[in-house]
This record gives sequence, structure tokens and C-alpha cells, in this order.
Amino acid sequence: MEEEIYVSPKKKGRIAVFLSGRGSNFRAIHDAILDGKINASISLVFSNVEDAAGLKIARERNLETLFLNPKLFSSREEYDKEIIKELQKREIDLICLAGYMKIISTYFCQVYKNRIMNIHPALLPSFPGLHVQKKAIDWGVRYSGATVHFVSEDVDMGPIILQEVVPVLQDDTEDILAERILKEEHKIYPEAVRLFFEGKLEVRGRRVFIR
Ligand code: GRF
Repeated sequence: MEEEIYVSPKKKGRIAVFLSGRGSNFRAIHDAILDGKINASISLVFSNVEDAAGLKIARERNLETLFLNPKLFSSREEYDKEIIKELQKREIDLICLAGYMKIISTYFCQVYKNRIMNIHPALLPSFPGLHVQKKAIDWGVRYSGATVHFVSEDVDMGPIILQEVVPVLQDDTEDILAERILKEEHKIYPEAVRLFFEGKLEVRGRRVFIR
């Protein structure tokens, strides 16, 4: 079977950021846009949590926000279908998951294949899932880091776009390590988005080539 190749579009893009919490990665991406580093605009900040701090930041920055209550939908797929309608209305090119604590349905992943990114605070494929800074410390690994990847059906397992490494020090607590990793997240997430809209990301199977 011939390998499917996807190349990201070179255009002024429209981004939707999905978040459930404080929104520091959302802020880093928006700051990079305001600095003229990314050829895109944030057309929607979406949340499954009504009082997410990130939504408040978005409103302060005059960005459009939307909250949909998952409890009002019969299944994950029904919820995602409603979200997709909202995305299509706004002609969204790229979805950036930034601390979005809800699993995306297979249907959603298929409709937006290679157009959903996520940031994860570990060097995938090591330590998928939650509380990964604690897991890195408990395992005694010498290095951890951050990963930006495309989202596929398998949680935290989509094609890797960028990674950055940080040391894990002997006296680290979960919070200290999380803080060290977060600093790198704020660099590589905007960088991955920049590369996307410069048409520089080529996905072949599970590998991403930077052209
Ligand atoms: C980050 O550590 C990110 O890697 C993980 O969730 C956290 C979100 O933080 N997916 P913030 O809301 O962007 O500050």
C-alpha cells in the first residue's frame, strides 16, 4: 500500500484552542501570534469547563470563547459533533489542545486528521497519560521533557512534531519538574504551530518531517 503523505498548508490560518484549565500554553501561542511569529489568528477558545481560567484570559484578550456542557450530550461523539459544527462555522484550520482534559472521539480525530495538535509534559512515547512528572521522578529517569504531537485515536500516541529535553534532578518535586518542563512547552508549542502554517510539516505514516 502506498504511504499517505500529508503536508500542512502554507496560509494565514485560523486556530481553535481547546483548554480546561489555566491556559498558559494558550497564552504562549497567542503571544507568539501577537509578536508576528505565527501566520495565524485564534478564532475560538473552546472549553468543556465553564470556569476555566484560560477562558477568562481569552475574554480579556478579546478572543471569542465557547463553553459547551458535556453533561447535556448523550455521548462523547454527540458532544464532538456539536463542537465540529462550531469549528466548521469558523473555518478552523488547526485545533491546538492545550490542557484539554477530555478525550477526543475517534470520529473527531478522523474528521480533523493531521489538524489537531497536543502538548504533553513528557518525552513520548514514555509516560503517556496523567501525572507524568511524578511518574518520571518515580522511575528515576535522568531526562524528561515536552512533546508536541498530532492527535490520533490512540491517546498521546500520534505523530511527534517537536520535543525538548530537560534534566530530572535528584531533589526535584513534581511541581519543580513540571515548572521546568512548562518553560519548554511554551517554546515548542508556538514553534510547532508556526511550522504548520508555513507549510513545513510533512506527515508520513507516524513520522513528521520538517521541510
Ligand atoms: C501542560 O502541562 C500540558 O503539557 C498538559 O496540560 C498542561 C496544561 O497547562 N497537556 P496550561 O493550561 O497550558 O497552563
